[in-house]
Amino acid sequence: MNQMTPPPKVEIIPASAPFSEAQRSWLNGFFAGLLSDGPSPLSAEQGAAVLQGPVGDGDDDEAPWHDQTMPIADRMKLAEGRPLRRRMMAAMAQQDCGQCGYNCHDYSDAIASKAEPRLNLCVPGGKETARMLKALKEELEKAPPAAGPAAAPAAAAPAIAAELGRSRDNPAPATFVSRQLLNKSGSEKETWHIDFDLTGCGLDYVVGDSFGIFARNDLGHVDQIIALLGASHATEVRGKTLREVLTDDVSLAPAPDSLFELISYITGGAQREKARALAQGEDPDGDAATLDVMAALQKFSNVRPHPEAFIEALEPLQPRLYSISSSHNATPGKLSLTVDCVRYVIGKRKRLGVASTFLAERIQPGDEVKVYVQKAHGFALPQDPNTPIIMIGPGTGIAPFRAFLHDRKATGAPGKNWLFFGHQRSASDFFYADELNAMKTSGLLTRMSLAWSRDGDRKFYVQDRMREVGREIWTWLAEGANIYICGDAKRMAKDVERALVDIVAKFGARSTDEAVLFVADLKKKGRLQQDVY
Ligand SMILES: Cc1cc2nc3c(=O)[nH]c(=O)nc-3n(C[C@H](O)[C@H](O)[C@H](O)COP(=O)(O)OP(=O)(O)OC[C@H]3O[C@@H](n4cnc5c(N)ncnc54)[C@H](O)[C@@H]3O)c2cc1C
Ligand SMILES: NC(=O)c1ccc[n+]([C@@H]2O[C@H](COP(=O)([O-])OP(=O)(O)OC[C@H]3O[C@@H](n4cnc5c(N)ncnc54)[C@H](OP(=O)(O)O)[C@@H]3O)[C@@H](O)[C@H]2O)c1
Repeated sequence: MNQMTPPPKVEIIPASAPFSEAQRSWLNGFFAGLLSDGPSPLSAEQGAAVLQGPVGDGDDDEAPWHDQTMPIADRMKLAEGRPLRRRMMAAMAQQDCGQCGYNCHDYSDAIASKAEPRLNLCVPGGKETARMLKALKEELEKAPPAAGPAAAPAAAAPAIAAELGRSRDNPAPATFVSRQLLNKSGSEKETWHIDFDLTGCGLDYVVGDSFGIFARNDLGHVDQIIALLGASHATEVRGKTLREVLTDDVSLAPAPDSLFELISYITGGAQREKARALAQGEDPDGDAATLDVMAALQKFSNVRPHPEAFIEALEPLQPRLYSISSSHNATPGKLSLTVDCVRYVIGKRKRLGVASTFLAERIQPGDEVKVYVQKAHGFALPQDPNTPIIMIGPGTGIAPFRAFLHDRKATGAPGKNWLFFGHQRSASDFFYADELNAMKTSGLLTRMSLAWSRDGDRKFYVQDRMREVGREIWTWLAEGANIYICGDAKRMAKDVERALVDIVAKFGARSTDEAVLFVADLKKKGRLQQDVY
């Protein structure tokens, strides 16, 4: 779907015209823009809706809620009056990140058609998505059988998902090899280059794919929870010890509604009322957002749920996905990741991101981890190795682009490569600097444009650098380049898209509405691809 043949290079200015190659290329792009017979311009509002991407299938009107920056209340409003499956889709976090094993559209179809009973798979949507899905599922159960067209059946799971290590439901063991800190001293970030050995499990992958990791909770944290329960770590639960189940199987992060429900059953008075309110998504003390499982036990410290009931009330520990930053063609049997470590403090307690700190400090060389390769849908190198590519990846967004570059080198792909990378400080946060500089020197990296947000007295981001070189970006696009964005979904991806629209408008001689449509069209044709989280 993403590996499309690039559009033919536009040749309006003859080779004999008195222009340099670069001028001719730019003019070709300029006139192609003017002469293109695209659809008639829409309003910015209509255009913005189109920009959400091609997910429509008849009854969702191009899914106007498919915007990862929109709050859930606004998404649900846009989906009002739509069939339940579409309202279920609006409840998802709209990142199409693949962590649930589907995209947002297919996950909601699978729930609506009852092929998927799990309502808690949307990691970025968290509790609010799970809550909304629960309410919609109850509506579904109550609704009489639909008289109109039936909900689309869930997409059949591809045969590949049944193979070991090809889906979250069937992970394989991979061997952890090493980790290396990518930041230098003075950095505010902690980002690790991580290496795995896949030779034991025989997994392979293509660049653009992600790697799913089943991490384990921190043992110190687990033991503190066991102490709060007043239980023995050897208590048997589900055929394992309590300590093993808490380490491997359940999420200790946001306290789920079901835990507050359990607490409300075994306490009374004001405590019971509070627990009940929290179970219903209310926030009686203004601290609901800070309540992970441990904080919930501390808040209701007079309550000691039975270990079995406690475990039943928790959510399963979900795998985490990471963009693969190596190429199987360049280093077969080896797989690398680029992982930003999540640590923060609430009150006096340090909180740890489960998977990132697992990779950063708990796993040791030689250890085996349960993993799977999550096939990319709509994020891959162009099929034609001659197609130029523009890659925009600040921070850990560099990950798949390092993979792309290694792959293009290994396969001898002649297409031009342009990387936009940015981070906080040039001195401490220039990941893979030696490698990228060598690629630039060798010519593999045709251009490298850098943006350091905290080197100067005002923020300077990749999209600011893009605007500076907008004319050249337009020229590359006119030559048929694919453009890729990877990294933060909430702010960066949208801002970069906006910059792209401005560049198309300015250098492609289009109105803003036409530029919006042009960019939407790049997306539809698979020439603008995103891997955002
Ligand atoms: C397709 C895809 C590709 C990805 N690729 C990469 C990649 O290449 N590199 C990478 O580093 N990550 C990547 N991620 C993100 C990654 O999957 C994890 O989400 C990330 O590592 C955090 O997981 P964790 O288990 O460490 O943290 P979790 O235990 O999931 O904790 C994270 C949660 O903690 C909370 N939190 C975080 N910071 C704060 C704070 N300051 N204050 C309060 N609450 C806070 C938030 O609720 C956040 O969701 C990718 C995600 C997807 C979907
Ligand atoms: N789910 C999770 O818990 C989790 C874990 C890891 C990462 N993430 C997400 O992934 C993102 C990537 O993290 P990262 O460590 O790779 O780096 P990052 O925090 O995204 O920062 C990378 C660079 O992007 C800059 N930036 C900030 N806002 C921007 C914007 N609107 N447009 C363009 N650039 C912008 C940052 O500048 P400044 O910081 O100086 O503004 C920094 O220079 C995080 O922001 C976060 O949203 C999520």
